[in-house]
Amino acid sequence: MQRTGSVLNTIGNTPLLELTKFDVGACRLFVKLENQNPAGSIKDRIGLSMIEAAERDGHLKPDGDPPYTIIEATAGNTGLGLALVAAQKGYRLLLVIPDKMSQEKILHLRALGAQVRLTRSDVGKGHPEHYQDLAARIARETPHSYYVNQFSNPNNPRAHELTTGPEIWTQMGQQLDAVVVGVGSGGTLTGLSRYFERVAPQVEMVLADPVGSVLTDIVQTGSIQKPAGTWLVEGIGEDVVSPNCDLSRVRHAYQISDAESFYTARSLLALEGILGGSSTGTLLAAALRYCREQSTPRRVVTLVPDSGNKYLNKMYNDYWMFDQGLLERPRQGNLLDLIVRRYQEGGAVTLRPQDTLLLAYRRMRLFDVSQIPVMEGERLAGIVDESDLVLHVQGNPARFNDPVGTAMVTKLETVEFDAQVSALLPIFQHDHVAIVADHGRFVGLITRVDLLAYLRKQLS
Ligand SMILES: Cc1ncc(COP(=O)(O)O)c(C=O)c1O
Repeated sequence: MQRTGSVLNTIGNTPLLELTKFDVGACRLFVKLENQNPAGSIKDRIGLSMIEAAERDGHLKPDGDPPYTIIEATAGNTGLGLALVAAQKGYRLLLVIPDKMSQEKILHLRALGAQVRLTRSDVGKGHPEHYQDLAARIARETPHSYYVNQFSNPNNPRAHELTTGPEIWTQMGQQLDAVVVGVGSGGTLTGLSRYFERVAPQVEMVLADPVGSVLTDIVQTGSIQKPAGTWLVEGIGEDVVSPNCDLSRVRHAYQISDAESFYTARSLLALEGILGGSSTGTLLAAALRYCREQSTPRRVVTLVPDSGNKYLNKMYNDYWMFDQGLLERPRQGNLLDLIVRRYQEGGAVTLRPQDTLLLAYRRMRLFDVSQIPVMEGERLAGIVDESDLVLHVQGNPARFNDPVGTAMVTKLETVEFDAQVSALLPIFQHDHVAIVADHGRFVGLITRVDLLAYLRKQLS
């Protein structure tokens, strides 16, 4: 379909696809690819509808001098949707974001011209540093500004009632039994609930909720049974029910752990080639559970609310998953358990003595490491770290072209892989990294941060 004019015309009308590689029991399961919106998520729809409604209501004027400032509290995707629309229409945009959000989202926002203010993600609503409270205060103090507030703005659910719902209904050929959604502001759930209540009240609304969110309790028991916890999935799950969240039509709720969400999203990519974000995993996991519980065939829709390219460095990165304790390697009960990148598994970043120091520098930046082992064939010849580089090139940057062998340290602190963790401490006290060997064969490096990560995992 050709869509002409502004990029804003490419929001919505996203494809719907049937999943064929998962076990869905007697059901058929379809996903609506909201990751294909121009700023990458379902929130583009509400970015457009909330700004255009504010223009109609006179809260925003496209030709304001100075330009009007749009302010919002957002976990990222709404910010991207607003940033896309604000940039096209010439508004300033200030976003208040909790500090657990992925760096890629923040970079994307800044590249779209938004001003980003990070705030604490470990405080509840009502605290002055909670992202919504802080955004409301900044809006009160900023002249010529409009606080969007997706949590109570009626044009958030309205966007889904007017666009997402009718699109699903048409794409499903008006044969639909259940829709599985997540809840952040509640806009998607409420908008779809209202639409289907009107056109097809038999359609069941199903909630996909992260473990730690209070919403499942409310659906299942009518009240909050235990205080909210924390979760890593982004964009969904709440510690309170926002004014835009109408749970009254939800008949089933599933709590999904971070681990299950991430595994499921990774499976969706591996099996069906769809690169969804972290919440996609939660929604799909809940939809799969729902489908497998049905004894009669049902047609079920869920969403791919945002794109996984913002999470490549998180849930699609095995090392991040190991670090979070979400991807388990068989426990060895020795120092191997502390080595994140193992040489024999091809995971270690290495150099050769003849490589240049410029390459060493580039690899340190690329892999976010401070030291790199230098291998001569299968033998560990030395190690080069940031301070070796600084000492070597300081005063004469042309020496970046020198071979790594001229700057590496060859006097190494080696421990056997079956040593006790306590064997690492004297090495760290000397500000060195531990080189782990298996009868002389290099196995990997352990740094202080690796030891801290290992100890932290034992806490959870
Ligand atoms: C990444 C993401 N953001 C937000 C939402 C929820 O949107 P809403 O704010 O409409 O409840 C979802 C829903 O699945 C989501 O996956």
